[in-house]
Amino acid sequence: MAKPVKIMETVLRDGHQSLLATRMRIEDMLPQLEALDKIGYKALEGWGGATFDSCLRFLDEDPWERLDTLKKNLKTPIQMLLRGQNLLGYNHYSNDVVQKFVQKASEHGIGVFRIFDALNDVRNLKVAIETALACPEKPEVQGCLVYTLSPVHTNDTFVELAKELKKMGCHSVCIKDMSGLLAPYVAEDLVKKLKAGLGEDFPVELHTHCTSGFGHATYLKAVEAGVDIIDCALAPFSSDTSQPCTETMVRALAGTPRDTKLDYHAMTPISKHFLGVKARIINEFGLKGYFDINPNVLDFQIPGGMLSNLANQLKEAGMEDKYQDLLDEMPRVRKDAGYPPLVTPSSQIVGTMATFNVMSGQRYKMVPNEFKDLVRGKFGRTTVPVEKDFITKTLGIPESDIIEDCSIEDAKGQTFAQFKDELIAKGYLNPSDEDVLSYALFPQVAEEFFKKHYTPMTAYVKK
Ligand code: CO
Repeated sequence: MAKPVKIMETVLRDGHQSLLATRMRIEDMLPQLEALDKIGYKALEGWGGATFDSCLRFLDEDPWERLDTLKKNLKTPIQMLLRGQNLLGYNHYSNDVVQKFVQKASEHGIGVFRIFDALNDVRNLKVAIETALACPEKPEVQGCLVYTLSPVHTNDTFVELAKELKKMGCHSVCIKDMSGLLAPYVAEDLVKKLKAGLGEDFPVELHTHCTSGFGHATYLKAVEAGVDIIDCALAPFSSDTSQPCTETMVRALAGTPRDTKLDYHAMTPISKHFLGVKARIINEFGLKGYFDINPNVLDFQIPGGMLSNLANQLKEAGMEDKYQDLLDEMPRVRKDAGYPPLVTPSSQIVGTMATFNVMSGQRYKMVPNEFKDLVRGKFGRTTVPVEKDFITKTLGIPESDIIEDCSIEDAKGQTFAQFKDELIAKGYLNPSDEDVLSYALFPQVAEEFFKKHYTPMTAYVKK
């Protein structure tokens, strides 16, 4: 029986996050929202990930207003990427901040919450999932398997994780392959096992990047195995370190039992517009805009966007020649840290530690606090327990600092009311809940933004 593959379009989020450092503005999107809405996508990813930070930090845009504008112009469900207890920041937030954020995002129009934890520790997903499930707008709640390669990860361990996500109430699961590590035949096996383990009707979505070059081939094998949804980006924002191309996949499946039935001719003018946007952004921000395929990502596993950052750090330190040493150091540090999947924030933490090791020429001589927090369990359970000697002797962390249950720590975090009081004490007398949330996630950046947009400070009136 014909069963069309559904497509989730990423041009408004992951496409430009992966290729253009998340620099697309709402004005770049507006002219094509009506046309995008008519295509018949399963969802349009348009919020979350790095967009929130980028809006405030680089684009002088209020991320909440961006979401309102998207919602006003789209009937297609708007999807966001949420990092569980990390929300869109780099720390764990207290439960009430997580709850407030999810409720507000749903109220402003998020139709699909894709929720992941960098360590695949479901305790870090619990509050976000439960809150999203209880939202009166009834958004879809999707749990993620953060895909990684290691001696301890197998397709069977991912199926167990998926079953747990289903048990927690998720409506669907997504294989989140942020570095393009999922090989075509492994994808076929994983999708078959997920379908067998979760039930034929339980939706399975696949999200990959073309970093290693597997992308389109991986999607084909996953489609043959019965995957329900694939994440694609329109041509100008596809391939390289981004998703496989929408038009290519639609044409590849045309006339088969999994035909998407989407009109690829209707996509041509949209892609043409975004090709122009891409050229403009590359020019305005001095970006490269493309990345060579690198099959060695299967060894060092660094997500695309981060590779260029690491290369830059070395360059600034005048140590460009140490780039290969750094790539070699990554798997070693990852092993010491208990094989965490490498995705924000664990990718930055492991990457920075590896950079310090290479730059100082001595392992673990300088250790950033975030790395100490990762190995002592502050962010949750690592895939395999970190060796106690490594924690206490190599890194010099007292045994009493090792955390067994990160959720107890989260409960002690700064509350929403405390963030609000802090803002009021700074002279912002009547902050909206949305502004308090922006401030909770990115205190300095949000304050800089408020200074530009609210006047006078004491009255807190929007300019
Ligand atoms: Co992605």
